Amino acid sequence: MTTLLRPPGPKGKPLVGSLLDFFHDMLGFLSKVAHEYGDIVYFGLGPRKAFLLNHPDFIKDVLVTHHRNFLKSRALERSKLVLGNGLLSSEGDLHLRQRRLIQPVFHHMRITTYGEVMVNYASRIGEQWEEETTVDMHEEMMRLTLAIVGKTLFDADVESEANEIGKALTEVITQFPRLLFPLSELLDNIPLPKNIRFNKARQRLDTTIYRMIEERRDGGKDRGDLLSMLLLAQDEEGDRIGMTDLQVRDEAMTLFLAGHETTANALTWTWYLLSQYPGVEKRLHEELDTVLGGRLPTLEDLELLSYTRMVLTEAMRLYPPAWVVVRRARNDYEVGGYVVPAGADILMSQYIIHRDPRYYPDPVRFYPERWIPEQQASRPPFAYFPFGGGPRRCIGESFAWMEGILVIATLAAKWKMSLVPGHRVELQPSITLRPKYGMRMTLERR
Ligand code: HEM
Repeated sequence: MTTLLRPPGPKGKPLVGSLLDFFHDMLGFLSKVAHEYGDIVYFGLGPRKAFLLNHPDFIKDVLVTHHRNFLKSRALERSKLVLGNGLLSSEGDLHLRQRRLIQPVFHHMRITTYGEVMVNYASRIGEQWEEETTVDMHEEMMRLTLAIVGKTLFDADVESEANEIGKALTEVITQFPRLLFPLSELLDNIPLPKNIRFNKARQRLDTTIYRMIEERRDGGKDRGDLLSMLLLAQDEEGDRIGMTDLQVRDEAMTLFLAGHETTANALTWTWYLLSQYPGVEKRLHEELDTVLGGRLPTLEDLELLSYTRMVLTEAMRLYPPAWVVVRRARNDYEVGGYVVPAGADILMSQYIIHRDPRYYPDPVRFYPERWIPEQQASRPPFAYFPFGGGPRRCIGESFAWMEGILVIATLAAKWKMSLVPGHRVELQPSITLRPKYGMRMTLERR
């Protein structure tokens, strides 16, 4: 083998490398080094070695072709505190078996029954809105997607205050990002009020989930929700048995957490972009008026709402809810003439690739027409990967598309949202890409 050099990259400081620059402004740092150093960039993050891949083919190689050579990131290890060994964090044989069990639950035909829930909940939120009032659209969308996932997953109304699962979930969810901060594990065992509240909420949530599992097992009834389906699933290709209660709990919690904030962000950024591009908004409204003619959307409309789909696609290009995917190399890995040593982290950022002018001319422009099929076909597949790729590709992808399109159609058919003048719109790359100061928007009935 020829000698392989380390890829170019910022020098950083002794010992810490680029750690401080990286955490100070992750998106700014990654954009800058991608621009300066090209398709493969190396930088140190404290004791860790990091490689940023900026070419769609390299990304496909890691996520698809050579996926066996990689583990998921260290941050996900921490998330096991809440998610246990659910799909997002499990590895190897366990992941394979669970994926096989859960995939059918997400099969298109099964999730179609949830379309109605999505439209009903969106329409309910629209009915609560009042003309000329200002709302934080991000909060509204979080509330909506949480309610949708609560209903479809547990057949529970998490919106109602009296609901114990709603309260416990809110506590766990708001504290969840904190778990992923570097070195946050050092704080776990200190009886901080936050830790005490968090542990109590987690226990309450567990008790509730186990009770629901027991009720469903006892009754032997399929309530049509995802939890029932998880309980009924059996591994036909493997041991022909189902999941333990603990495994069902972990999967349910994972789907709950993975299944709402991402979609909420996609929707929030869509409303923001529409408010900034009146031409796009007008075309969207025209499509909705023509296809729906004032009635609520149904699943059958999905195929007809092609511009609505392009709007959501383009919004997730500019503001991908999952803005980076991280993998850890199990063995030395060769890419583009360089070696990534075993143990190093590989970063692949949707945010960076989706704004690369090689694939998207005038990249910062919100232009849904980029997604007409001919244009789309001219780009390499991994120039757009909001849902990742390979065996760890998002299992909720079709659920998310359906939810996104139906919610946009339901709400934009009746309402127009304008950004409150002077509202600061900034990106916060937490686990998902959020608007740092929320999204204050004024509502106007159409
Ligand atoms: C716009 C919405 C969504 C986006 C952008 C998104 C994005 C992603 C991405 C990028 C991954 C792969 C992460 C990696 O490879 O490291 C992923 C995995 C996953 N997502 Fe989603 N997601 C969305 C909605 C959902 C929904 C609605 C659900 C469930 C109801 C869900 C459940 C999951 C699960 C369980 C995984 C782990 C899959 C595995 O490793 O086998 N996601 N998602």
